[in-house]
Amino acid sequence: MNIEGKVVIITGGMGGMGYETAKALLKNGAKFIAIFDLPGSADEIDSSSKGLFATERAKFFPGDISIDSTLKNNFDRVVNDQGCVDIVINNAGIINEQNIQLLVDLNVKAVLSCSLLALTHMGKHKGGHGGLIVNVNAILGLTDCPLLPFYSATKHAIIGFTRCMKNNFNSTGVRVVSICPGVTKTNLFRKLPENLCDFISDTIKEKVLTEVPVQSDSSGTSAYKREPISNLDAQYDSSKREPKHTYNE
Ligand SMILES: NC(=O)c1ccc[n+]([C@@H]2O[C@H](COP(=O)([O-])OP(=O)(O)OC[C@H]3O[C@@H](n4cnc5c(N)ncnc54)[C@H](O)[C@@H]3O)[C@@H](O)[C@H]2O)c1
Repeated sequence: MNIEGKVVIITGGMGGMGYETAKALLKNGAKFIAIFDLPGSADEIDSSSKGLFATERAKFFPGDISIDSTLKNNFDRVVNDQGCVDIVINNAGIINEQNIQLLVDLNVKAVLSCSLLALTHMGKHKGGHGGLIVNVNAILGLTDCPLLPFYSATKHAIIGFTRCMKNNFNSTGVRVVSICPGVTKTNLFRKLPENLCDFISDTIKEKVLTEVPVQSDSSGTSAYKREPISNLDAQYDSSKREPKHTYNE
């Protein structure tokens, strides 16, 4: 799929990688980017980056996407305003090993709910013209990490969903893919130490937090920059077991 002229919804698009992704998609010719994020999240964007909203091609839709009615309202508003949606990027995610409800509501439920809305709107089985759903996952959705067992479980769940959707493409015309970044310097990463479980040993903390390579938030979106979005499924194809990772080593 060529992103030129496409209408894109991105959740968590005010945050580290989401914001970089929105900028990259606009630069690469997307017609319109709808950013779904929490009210107040725009305040965290520094003024030098506010250029994204100087264009009519991007709009902020404030709301908590883990609330189904809020998510649907904003999704419907984009469809009504733009006439269609072509690409949905499920990017919003948190690490909170102490609040399972919050974690699952956002990292799993909101991704599945938003995907269902996207499939219902874009799916050829519903008269739509097909499209693309990108689930922003993590290496931790593919491997095990003793530092973050609950977060990892949510990411594994979405890898499972992505894999299951592979063979529904013929019916829906909607490709469902995941990208799996490594550790990236964003707020999510910066707040990590305060969001861990109390049973995590210092040895594990030290090992993971000091030994794992870390990349910048903009390199976390390199999948979108280096390749046209049509090739995103080459970044992580659910049928292959060897995703590409990008690190600043
Ligand atoms: N940073 C990393 O190391 C890393 C690594 C691999 C994968 N990821 C994944 O990448 C995605 C983006 O992460 P990031 O590091 O850019 O995080 P971030 O914290 O910088 O940004 C996340 C955004 O999601 C928004 N958000 C949180 N709760 C929300 C809600 N209920 N409704 C709407 N928006 C909400 C936040 O306001 C924020 O703007 C996440 O899914 C994360 O799991 C991150």
